Amino acid sequence: MPSPVVAIVGATGAVGVELLTCLEQRHFPLSKLRLFASKRSAGKTMRFKSEDILVEELTEDVFAGIDIALFSAGGSISKKFGPIAARAGAVVVDNSSAFRMDPNVPLVVPEINPEAARGHKGIIANPNCSTIIAITPLWPLHQRNPIKRIIAATYQAASGAGQAAMDELRDSTQAYLKGESYQHSVLPPPYAFNLVSHNSKVDPESLYNEEEMKMVNETRKIWHAPDLRVSATCIRVPVLRAHGIALTVECTNPVTPAEVRALIEAAPGVRLVDDPEKNYFPMPVDVSGRDEILVGRIRQDISDPTGHSISLFVVGDQLLKGAALNAVQIAELLV
Ligand code: A2P
Repeated sequence: MPSPVVAIVGATGAVGVELLTCLEQRHFPLSKLRLFASKRSAGKTMRFKSEDILVEELTEDVFAGIDIALFSAGGSISKKFGPIAARAGAVVVDNSSAFRMDPNVPLVVPEINPEAARGHKGIIANPNCSTIIAITPLWPLHQRNPIKRIIAATYQAASGAGQAAMDELRDSTQAYLKGESYQHSVLPPPYAFNLVSHNSKVDPESLYNEEEMKMVNETRKIWHAPDLRVSATCIRVPVLRAHGIALTVECTNPVTPAEVRALIEAAPGVRLVDDPEKNYFPMPVDVSGRDEILVGRIRQDISDPTGHSISLFVVGDQLLKGAALNAVQIAELLV
């Protein structure tokens, strides 16, 4: 695929805008870019490489001649239009959860399993944002000293729930500071100055929510580790676009913080930010708008006297490595 025609489905959304930026900044070798959104946005233009590109309404017959379609318009749009795009000859890189656990669909983090993309049958899935941000920094350790168990607690930004949630965080914070009441419509509980359990559905039996189970199931699939033990607690925090994740991992063999630091320093896509003397560690403000996942607070888990466990804290831009950047990196594997 030397110079593909690329489409973005959901171009006007929070991730869609970042997809445009990533394609431009990474000099993606496309011959033409087409943009799709709902009827509401048809006729608008968006800037790409000093050109104004028209946003078109997404319909079933738009996919002829498109080689790569980057989807980020929600699960129901992906479910309906993804297979239509694939039948029309496009390779779909889908940002939703619609196909992630389908055994015929590769689930790809390019730093971890780029080879999986080769086996696609027209659709490649982009993993959940918290999963990508948690497991990309853990992968070098897992290869060296297999991880048997992961305990994760997330501090998730508004962007994961789309542009409307980011707007709601800004607007409700302003209202809160002015002492005004605010009618929430995207995330029902008050969001400003609050912490809220992730808004995905809670399973009545396990009491885990869907976001938490994505971290469990997607990690097992990407790492080919069906027996990996994973537990997560997913919480939304009033941060605009970067997720933080506290991780404790138990390895097969003893492990030290120095070993983990050395692995992080050598790993692609991650950066060590771990300065106990200055008390300077990964923060959402430092990673917003940046590609790498920041990793720090690396320390022995003192609750495991065997020395097999490590605790750390990672942050990553949810819209970039958690979504658009990872999708564009997948598309780069195709050209
Ligand atoms: P639109 O802006 O026209 O509503 P976000 O994740 O930030 O909420 O963005 C969702 C993206 O999905 C937007 O680009 C939105 O377009 C797009 N979208 C929503 N509904 C549809 C639809 N029925 N057909 C095509 N695109 C849609």
